[in-house]
Amino acid sequence: MQTSNAETAPLSPSPSRKEVWKMFDRIAHRYDVLNRSLSFGRDVAWRKRLRKHLPTDRELLLVDHATGTADQILFLLGGKARIAKAMGYDLSEEMLARGREKIEKLGVGDVVSLHTGDAMQSPQADNSADVVTISFGIRNVEDVPTALADMRRALVPGGKLLILECSLPENTFIRKSYLFYFRKILPRLGGWVSGDSYAYNYLNKTVETFPCGEAFCRLMREAGFEQVRAEPMTFGVATLYSGLKPENAA
Ligand SMILES: C[S@@+](CC[C@H](N)C(=O)[O-])C[C@H]1O[C@@H](n2cnc3c(N)ncnc32)[C@H](O)[C@@H]1O
Repeated sequence: MQTSNAETAPLSPSPSRKEVWKMFDRIAHRYDVLNRSLSFGRDVAWRKRLRKHLPTDRELLLVDHATGTADQILFLLGGKARIAKAMGYDLSEEMLARGREKIEKLGVGDVVSLHTGDAMQSPQADNSADVVTISFGIRNVEDVPTALADMRRALVPGGKLLILECSLPENTFIRKSYLFYFRKILPRLGGWVSGDSYAYNYLNKTVETFPCGEAFCRLMREAGFEQVRAEPMTFGVATLYSGLKPENAA
């Protein structure tokens, strides 16, 4: 199993994640189109895989952190799970504004609402969410253990945490080819289309310095989650993590 994108420092402080949402304010206008094209559309399959992990035995109150333009929430609505309410939190007002436009267009404003909120200290009440999700967001927060602890706080006992995040392939040949794309092509394409080359250089640096596979599962267990699993997808370029808040937790 993969252990870490960073060989030596599982929680690298570099590049700085401080106030990174300001960068997302700058690229919000092109975020969706870049996301889809730079992942060759694979992000749709990954988001749908996450959707399959939603409990279907009851109505859900769902919280999505670092929700951005609400893409993940909107994909979750299309599945079998009955989502009574979905709240998305993010610190980038521009990303949230794009998300609100999509929600209005789709007429799902009675179910989905977006709010300003930090994944490390969310305004969500204790023991209130059946499911917490965060897609391509956890590697951007400054203090991952604090964010995981806050997600656990907001979950009901027995509630589920689902995390989708970029990772690096284990197979040496695939990993080398992917790193070439990631380091040389993606930042240029992303910079060209969004007009912000810093943002897409930041993207590859955060992925390469973020723990994945077993190293990330360990962080989830340390934050108090059980039945923690990692599911690598598309040769390991993305991983879906799941875990439960224990039934007997306060
Ligand atoms: C790569 S985007 C992911 C957006 C969305 N979840 C998706 O799946 O497309 C990362 C998002 O994390 C947000 N973000 C970064 N740090 C954050 C924090 N501490 N709390 C909440 N959101 C944060 C950014 O503003 C940005 O919208």
